[in-house]
Amino acid sequence: MAETLKLDVKPLSLPKADDVVILVADDLHPSPAVAQLIGASLMGTVARAASVEVFKGKLLASLTILAPEDAAFSRLIVVGVGPAEDRGKLDPVTLGGAIRGKLSADRTAAILADLPGEQASPDLPAGLALGLRMSAYSFDRYKTKKGEKDGKPDDRSKTNGKAGESGKTYRVSLHVADVASAKKHIKVSDAIGSGIDVARDLVNEPPNVLTPVEFAKRAAELEKLGVDVDILDMKDMKKLGMRALLGVGQGSANESRVVIMRWNGGKSGAKPVAFVGKGVTFDTGGISIKPAQGMEDMKGDMAGAACVVGLMHALAARKAKVNVVGAIGLTENMPDGAAQRPGDVVTSMSGQTIEIINTDAEGRLVLADVLWHVQDKFKPVFMVNLATLTGAILVALASEHAGLFSNSDELSERLSAAGKATGEKVWRMPLTPEYDKMIDSKIADMKNTGGRFGGSITAAQFLQRFVNETPWAHLDIAGTGMSSPSTEINRSWGSGWGVRLLDRLVADHYEQ
Ligand code: BES
Ligand code: MN
Ligand code: ZN
Repeated sequence: MAETLKLDVKPLSLPKADDVVILVADDLHPSPAVAQLIGASLMGTVARAASVEVFKGKLLASLTILAPEDAAFSRLIVVGVGPAEDRGKLDPVTLGGAIRGKLSADRTAAILADLPGEQASPDLPAGLALGLRMSAYSFDRYKTKKGEKDGKPDDRSKTNGKAGESGKTYRVSLHVADVASAKKHIKVSDAIGSGIDVARDLVNEPPNVLTPVEFAKRAAELEKLGVDVDILDMKDMKKLGMRALLGVGQGSANESRVVIMRWNGGKSGAKPVAFVGKGVTFDTGGISIKPAQGMEDMKGDMAGAACVVGLMHALAARKAKVNVVGAIGLTENMPDGAAQRPGDVVTSMSGQTIEIINTDAEGRLVLADVLWHVQDKFKPVFMVNLATLTGAILVALASEHAGLFSNSDELSERLSAAGKATGEKVWRMPLTPEYDKMIDSKIADMKNTGGRFGGSITAAQFLQRFVNETPWAHLDIAGTGMSSPSTEINRSWGSGWGVRLLDRLVADHYEQ
């Protein structure tokens, strides 16, 4: 991905830049250090402009004023962080994204990252840096005219015809009280940011480019970071008996793949944690074909797998002290003379048989074999899977929360806490024997759909039949992984949702 943000970290000072950004509380005061740098006369102008513009320093509100002629910068952007007692509500990542929204790519900017009324917090520079880069991200690999301004294309000479080069770079310097500490923390948040970029790129890629084979190749790039990557091809999968997964892909001209990624940053021999992702590179529904309207969105039906790859990238890039397995099932669900039919019965790797009622309920078939394989082979401490599994989760939770289903209260609580801390929120949904019964089949061990009602729950019950006793959680990210409303920190169709959540889960509980 072309770089879209160039960030320098410098000591607190008033630099030469086009734009200078300062943070003020609801009393319109910045920190004493920043007040001194800006000077009483310009702060007086800020007070007058604030009264005219009714700017009250509310959290994320902003005021832009023209600097006096003799200043070393041309615009002063004043961003509110609200009253001191609400400082707990301030998310530095969101603040960074909101600030980026006020900047232009063709101007240099200096952010004076010092909070009013507070000791310097190491979270602030790293959070701002992450928010800036998350919000700067855009996917323009397939735009041949680069550097569009005000919606109008620049002159044709900028057309380079090459995919992957962005014309937009934000040049920002972050001015902080403690440069060494800020740089150390930004190294970590940058690792997470680059993992999010990886996940977003994968979700945004078109499905003719990102086939299962191509996806596996992209995952293998993790080897550069020291991740062991093992690609299972058709022969390997057949040998393991992954017939639930293979059945989904049998109507596609593209072969299926399973990729196993291992990051061994923990004690040698210590049990790993495991992450599993649904990677349906395109979901037409198969013979139970979907309506045409919006079907193009089903290129994002691999957002779970993309998150797992992005997470592995983040953990390896920040050298997390933990052993991790990432496993993704990659396939394409197409209608074809060779495609799976409603009525078919397949035998999964676990030995359990599945009656196919609807070929559009394919994600659970893919995950059934990958989950079984991971618990069987790696005996992980826990498994968390991510999948754009059901439209019904959008009906229940919209894009506000991912659905959380789990056989473990501890894992659920830890995921919920990580969700609150990062803003990637999850909401726990029920799993019970009564729901489980709804997927019993007349002729096989189970069927792949449970009827119209409780669709997200019966899908989760299906997955649970393939996890044995392993502590496990399923995150249904159909609402959060793609096409979610744009926010301060995400303007991309593919959100990269889950990378921050799961990085946080690992950092808070599973590193040595
Ligand atoms: N990939 C879809 C779910 C989906 C829907 C993801 C909307 C993102 C946005 C999944 O494979 C699917 O088709 N699920 C069916 C299940 C049904 C046939 C039981 C659904 O949700 O309708
Ligand atoms: Mn489907
Ligand atoms: Zn699907």
